[in-house]
Amino acid sequence: MVLANALNNSKKQRQPLLQVENLTKVFGSGKNEVIAVDDVSFEIYPGEIISLLGESGSGKTTTARMILRLSQPTRGRILFKGKDIQAMKGVDYWRQVQAIFQDPFSSFNSFYSVHSFLSKAFRLKGNHVSKSQQRAMMEEAMKKVGLNAEELLFKRPHELSGGQRQRLMIARALLISPELLIADEPTSMIDASSRVGILNMLMDLSRNLGMSIMFITHDIGLAYYTSDRLLIMNKGRIVERGPSVEVVENPTDEYTRRLLADVPTLSKRWAL
Ligand SMILES: Nc1ncnc2c1ncn2[C@@H]1O[C@H](COP(=O)(O)OP(=O)(O)O)[C@@H](O)[C@H]1O
Ligand SMILES: [Mg+2]
Repeated sequence: MVLANALNNSKKQRQPLLQVENLTKVFGSGKNEVIAVDDVSFEIYPGEIISLLGESGSGKTTTARMILRLSQPTRGRILFKGKDIQAMKGVDYWRQVQAIFQDPFSSFNSFYSVHSFLSKAFRLKGNHVSKSQQRAMMEEAMKKVGLNAEELLFKRPHELSGGQRQRLMIARALLISPELLIADEPTSMIDASSRVGILNMLMDLSRNLGMSIMFITHDIGLAYYTSDRLLIMNKGRIVERGPSVEVVENPTDEYTRRLLADVPTLSKRWAL
């Protein structure tokens, strides 16, 4: 308890990296109205790993899209380092906040090769890195995510598998090393045998660079394995939140309990 209070106090003294306040997204109107995200508020602190956890259709991706400025909130606001993200310049924001998506196909321009996709990372960062240095850094990032640069660097997106495209997004995130990474089902297309390796790599990145990560997932194993805190989302609302261990060991919400019916398999799948 003393420790929990100490942690709470130290958190209060730090400024959150991201603050989401009363975020709401309504699609359609009248009979077709869908409240995809309903008055959601939370913070992410520097270096923290959190998971937004819920079943399909609970509003997770819509929340992520608003944080990434790909979708306009109906109500509420999002602050990054205390500033309203709507008031920030796009490049300034996306240099600091990056995403890995569930189906990354739409994130690629089909005319561009892997090489030009990764080169954008350098343009976004605005670093002056020589072409040969860029090439070496790309090759290294690809190697880290288990891709062979020699074979793939000049391929185009449709020539890659879903898992390869997802790994490539992770490689680009490594090159950009943003302050906040939003990872929406980031390993859904990667085979189970390499999933833990990729997650460990992202967690190392967080530990070594102080990068914050928001995992978005329906997989309680992934959330529990990776995250300091969990936010449980159901029908557009956050129904429960807290340190991962507390939420998993002592869930108070009925929906969370139902999700946790999966937990006996946790130890096997994630070797916890
Ligand atoms: N562009 C859209 N137009 C209309 N409804 C949408 C749109 N995007 C998402 N929705 C609806 O919003 C709800 C939440 O979707 P989503 O955020 O994708 O959930 P999750 O990522 O948790 O599976 C769903 O009912 C979905 O059908
Ligand atoms: Mg989704």
